Parts: sequence; C-alpha cells; structure tokens
Amino acid sequence: MTDLLYSGLRTVEWKDNAVVMIDQTKLPNELIHVKYTDYNDVASAIRNLVIRGAPAIGVAGAFGLALAGLQSNASTPEQLITDLESAKKVLFETRPTAVNLAWGLEQIMIVAKKGNDVNKIKESIINTAKQMAEDDITINMTMGKHGSQLFNNNDTIMTHCNAGSLATVAYGTALGVIRATKDSGKNIKVIATETRPVQQGSRLTAFELHHDGIDVSLIPDTAVGYSMANKLVNKVVVGADRVLRTGHVYNKIGTYQVALIAKQHGIPFYVAAPLSTFDMKSNPQDVIIEQRKGTEVTQIGDKKTAPDGINVINPAFDMTPPELISGIITEAGVAKPPFEESIKKLFEAKK
Ligand code: MRU
Repeated sequence: MTDLLYSGLRTVEWKDNAVVMIDQTKLPNELIHVKYTDYNDVASAIRNLVIRGAPAIGVAGAFGLALAGLQSNASTPEQLITDLESAKKVLFETRPTAVNLAWGLEQIMIVAKKGNDVNKIKESIINTAKQMAEDDITINMTMGKHGSQLFNNNDTIMTHCNAGSLATVAYGTALGVIRATKDSGKNIKVIATETRPVQQGSRLTAFELHHDGIDVSLIPDTAVGYSMANKLVNKVVVGADRVLRTGHVYNKIGTYQVALIAKQHGIPFYVAAPLSTFDMKSNPQDVIIEQRKGTEVTQIGDKKTAPDGINVINPAFDMTPPELISGIITEAGVAKPPFEESIKKLFEAKK
C-alpha cells in the first residue's frame, strides 16, 4: 500500500517466499535485484554490503529470520525456536554497530515465542517482517514531515554517506527529510559527500537523488571545510546507525568531522533516525565500532591505490557527541538539546 505513497526505489521486499533486494554493490552502474531463499545468503549480503544502512539491515535481518523459519524442518514450536535462535546468531554477527539489526531480529523472536503451532509461527513471522517493511516507509515519511519544518526555501543541505531509500526500505531518513522538504514546495539543493572508503555518497546518495530529480552536487570528503567556509552550505542532515539516550550519535565514518566543521561555522547539524535506531541502555564505551577490511582503503574497485603490505585503519563508524548536534529528527518529533531530557520525552509520548 505504501508503494502508492512513494514510488521511488524499494530496497528490500518479500516476494514469493524469497527476499528480494537491490544489489547495492553494483550501483550506480547497474540497478539489479538479487533473490535469496536461504538466510545464510541474507547474512552474507548484509556482511558484504549488498544491502546496508541501519533500517534496511534491520528489515533484511527480519526477512532473513522469516526465511530461516521456512527452511526449518522442526516439528515442534520449541525446535523451531532453537532453529530461529541459531539463525538469529548468524544474522546478528554480520555487523555490530547499527542497532536496528538487533532490534529487527528481536521483534521476530518475540512474535515467534508467542506461538504454539509450527506452521502458524512461520506464517506470523513472515507477516511481522512484511509489516516492519511497510512501517519503515510510513515512519520515514512521518519523520520527513517533522524534519521538513527545520529547512527553509533556498537552503543548501549537506549530507554524508547514504541515509536514503537505499539505506531503508524506501524514502529514507535524512534523504526522507530532504524529499519531504522539497515536496512541501521549498526550493532546496543538496551537497553530498563522496564518503570514502566505500563511497556510499557518490555511488548511492548521488544516484538516488539524481534518480528522483533532486538538485545534488557531489564533493570529495576533503571539501567539507571548503564548502562550509565559503558558505556553499547552510544546514546539514545525516542519518544514524545508533543513537544513545544521551544523544551520542554513531554514524558513517567522517560524520564527526562534518559536525565539528559545521559547529566551527555556525551551521545547524541535524540527525534523522527512527526510534528503532535508539539504544536506551548502552553507554559510549559499550558500543562496538565495526572495523572493516583494509582493501576498502587500499583499492578503489579493483584498482590498487596504496602500496602492497601497508598497514590500514578502517573504522566504519564514528561517534558525534551531543554538543555538536542541533536536533534529532524522529517519527515522534524533533528532540532538541538537552537530549537526555528530550529523548526521554519522545519515548514517553510513544507509550
Ligand atoms: O556502512 P553502511 O553503508 O551500512 O553505513 C550506513 C550509514 O552510516 C548511514 O548513514 C546510516 O545507516 C543511516 S541510514 C538511514
């Protein structure tokens, strides 16, 4: 039904007892879909960035568990739960930082544990995962409406990484705010950072904004300071992989330096994230930052760009502290500093 509301790219869906997703490793050169019927293949797809972005991997994980249900030969609900628990472990271990993956898997386990008939459990977890996918789009559109009020006619908005349709089921978080701002009749422009090493900015954000006819200019990551110092940008919006109750935001590596430079130039820095991205229990020292393979840094595609044998440090995410953040946009409203109080209020209002 939500397809009628937003007709852009759909990153992941359930079709004929299989999970179908856009293969993001092939973008922007080819827009192709892959189809999986084995949860182990969904786990590999998450690990290898065929699908990526916090909300998208949350839903992909849920669909992966739904596949694990179909793959199971269990004859009792207890056996089925055991099979689902082991699939959950495989899916969970793919990527440690985005909290949506753990959240999506947990939602499915809660539903599975309520059932007392194997076939009915299998059916209900498929339906729950499908509903999560639909809800993701509705939530993004609501978040977009809240966020659009923070942006004005003729704003040029910087974004980092890809927090768009391709990072969610559809529409996007940060790019959802940009879409909603444009749809509200405001004339806006976007500056997208390239986002080395995996280039989610140039391969994905530039691709999907261009696909939707939104005015976008691509810059190398090294031009963030130049763009801000020369007044080429007057607001920033990014997504998040995890937001703590204190307002500490974990997002793609490089987000922290974008926020620091924005602060230096008095440019408002916003984060857009659904409540499923919030981790209300952990402290900064508990959060594991994923370290990825060195070849992402020593190569661009298949082309070597560094000497053989060089040591590489390749963290996938960094943490932006609350004092650099002007507001956190959610489907329940916009949290403003002090975040510990405003985030708590958003969760209380949701109950
Ligand atoms: O490594 P990735 O591509 O999964 O990282 C994605 C990001 O950091 C996004 O900015 C984040 O998930 C927000 S998605 C709406």
